[in-house]
Amino acid sequence: MSGITTSSVELLSPFALGDLELQNRLVMAPLTRNRAGDGNVPTDLNVEYYGQRASAGLIITEAAQISPQGVGYPSTPGIHTSAQVAGWRRVVDAVHARNGRIFLQLWHVGRISHPSLQPDNAQPVAPSAIRPAGEAVTYEGMKAFETPRALRADELPGIVADYARAARHARDAGFDGVEIHAANGYLLDEFLRDATNIRDDAYGGSVENRMRLLQEVVEAVTQIWPAQRVGVRLSPENSFNDIRDSDPQATFGAVADMLSRYQLAYLHVVEGDMMSGERKVDYGEIKRRFAGIYMANNGYTKARAEQALHTGMADLIAIGKLFIANPDLPQRFADNAELNEPDTSTFYGGDARGYTDYPALTQKRKTA
Ligand SMILES: Cc1cc2nc3c(=O)[nH]c(=O)nc-3n(C[C@H](O)[C@H](O)[C@H](O)COP(=O)(O)O)c2cc1C
Repeated sequence: MSGITTSSVELLSPFALGDLELQNRLVMAPLTRNRAGDGNVPTDLNVEYYGQRASAGLIITEAAQISPQGVGYPSTPGIHTSAQVAGWRRVVDAVHARNGRIFLQLWHVGRISHPSLQPDNAQPVAPSAIRPAGEAVTYEGMKAFETPRALRADELPGIVADYARAARHARDAGFDGVEIHAANGYLLDEFLRDATNIRDDAYGGSVENRMRLLQEVVEAVTQIWPAQRVGVRLSPENSFNDIRDSDPQATFGAVADMLSRYQLAYLHVVEGDMMSGERKVDYGEIKRRFAGIYMANNGYTKARAEQALHTGMADLIAIGKLFIANPDLPQRFADNAELNEPDTSTFYGGDARGYTDYPALTQKRKTA
């Protein structure tokens, strides 16, 4: 953003995100933790976890399925049943009670699923019938991915309607906004990138066609929410979930141009490849092409975050793993305090251990 003085781009100073006042520019990145309850409903433990992290300027929830077809992992929460909406409302209330802000991430996994996770044991769906390398996580353990079924064009309006319904449910649950998950190899990203989309209809081929489904989803969701409460997440060169694009700079530059038309809350970008650590795309160019707030993510520390803000490379910084291990991350950054180390063995699934038992600084001091 132009015209902003250095003192106003401090990481831990308040920030106006559209009409929403954030306590700071530090965002908790979306983090799947596989600890939802029966019926993929958020539980008391999930309420406690998010409440503990309410000092983030903004929390983006773990990805939440928009429909039963959107499910790709065990015990991930949904936003398509009334019980799920009620569960999320308790999460939102806990965050709001501590003066936090929270957006829900809207998710359809596309081909990153398995028949055992799908209604009626159906094949997972995708833009094209291309099987991802690797294995699905199922309730019965890891299983080889199967070849997905290519969606017919006449099914796409139903998927857009599922996003709209999920967005309405998020509003009913009291969220401050929603983030459309178009990153990390899931359905919308599968449409965007040319290794997974070889369709020859209006949704494949040119970049304009490949981003048509995302655009339709953005249009549908911004009918439900004011655009300033809707963000979009992209990951131009992330190869997680076996996905690639032959020209990410051009593809995602065009996506940034397209998204600029909507006055969205922000564009959230996973910079680089989470798998290889490579970073070839010029994110400065993507940021320049997007008219609005740019949220950067992937490997940010306090020093890197401050540098990105001060050099104009980002407006907001999203942090994932450090927020898992440090519920009071903004306070720790403010104090230059020591950080808890994330325990990767408890990332996905389990109980309170490695979830709600990371100590805050005050707890540590009390027990020391
Ligand atoms: C345990 C775990 C779960 C994740 N779940 C999601 C998710 O639900 N949605 C998403 O967009 N990204 C997800 N990610 C990616 C993170 O949001 C983030 O992009 C990544 O951790 C890099 O940021 P960091 O270096 O600050 O951790 C996940 C990452 C981890 C480690």
